[in-house]
Amino acid sequence: MLRRLHHHQPESFAFTPANLEWARGQIAKYPEGRQASAVIPLLWRGQEQEGWVTRPMIETVARMLDLAPIRVLEVASFYFMFQMAPVGSVAHVQVCGTTSCMICGAEDLIGVCRDKIAKAPHTLSADGKFSWEEVECLGACANAPMVQIGKDYYEDLTAEKFAWILDELAAGRVPTPGPQNGRFASEPLGGLTSLKGFAKTHEANASVALATQLGDTVKRIDGTEPTATDVMRGASPMPVRKKGAPKARATGAGESDAALREAETVGRPEQGSVAGSKPALLKKPRKGGADDLKKISGVGPKLESLLNELGVFHFDQIAAWTDDEIAWVDERLKFKGRIEREGWIAQAQALARGEGA
Ligand code: FES
Repeated sequence: MLRRLHHHQPESFAFTPANLEWARGQIAKYPEGRQASAVIPLLWRGQEQEGWVTRPMIETVARMLDLAPIRVLEVASFYFMFQMAPVGSVAHVQVCGTTSCMICGAEDLIGVCRDKIAKAPHTLSADGKFSWEEVECLGACANAPMVQIGKDYYEDLTAEKFAWILDELAAGRVPTPGPQNGRFASEPLGGLTSLKGFAKTHEANASVALATQLGDTVKRIDGTEPTATDVMRGASPMPVRKKGAPKARATGAGESDAALREAETVGRPEQGSVAGSKPALLKKPRKGGADDLKKISGVGPKLESLLNELGVFHFDQIAAWTDDEIAWVDERLKFKGRIEREGWIAQAQALARGEGA
């Protein structure tokens, strides 16, 4: 199949504010002069937002990475994971047609696509809601035949079940992903032969449970949805915060904001400095000892000791950082963008509330 720019293109492209912030975080991962390495994550985020890779998107990404647009087009047209043509407004269906799935009925599923969506792959359905393509093995061979719809897998399918799933999606409902024949995961079709009590204690396997909690099977991504880490930590999604607006201050058990401000603060923010503002720091941990900052995903022993040297010992200190204060700490830890990228603030807020401790 020829992979080239589609003949119909939108006028313009812009990342949503939250996606733009995320994209800048990706670019910041790379050393000066190597920002081109962020091309795949940026294109992927653009595709998650719009459904497919458009010419204005390619030009925007090229500008952000200081690349010639042809360099970005080369990447987009090389990797089959990038959709170069418009996809259905509800879902793009990827049917696995490789050996296991083919033997178990993939051709029947493709027949359903031809009947219900469009005769040819990469073609929009008459109502514009769906599109489809055949793809190579998606790594779920033990649950053949299967399809990927949006972000999730629908497995152990029959033509009837698959047609029902498409009808449900067209009606605005999202059927539960995972095995569709009553299997928990990929145990023998005849039933479990070992670990017999396990499935009964869980409603769904871990992938299905996470997909259900995230709820973004076919959702276009605007950057405000919870991440898998948020869901696994039980934290609520963070609202989009205006640049510079203060974050909610979290206090440790039994301590008031005033106590934090007056008794223990050794430095007040220095507003307007070039590298952000200095956050409230402590000379030493409060009574009861320092928090285990390594509980924040992304903080290891080395970073913890660097934070302690700066005067950061407690989750509630990190939870209260503003954007300027994050910039100040970022500069001193020499990990630009990492605090935002790894969601330290949300994690610290949850830990300060006593969650996930
Ligand atoms: S052959 Fe279909 S998932 Fe592997």
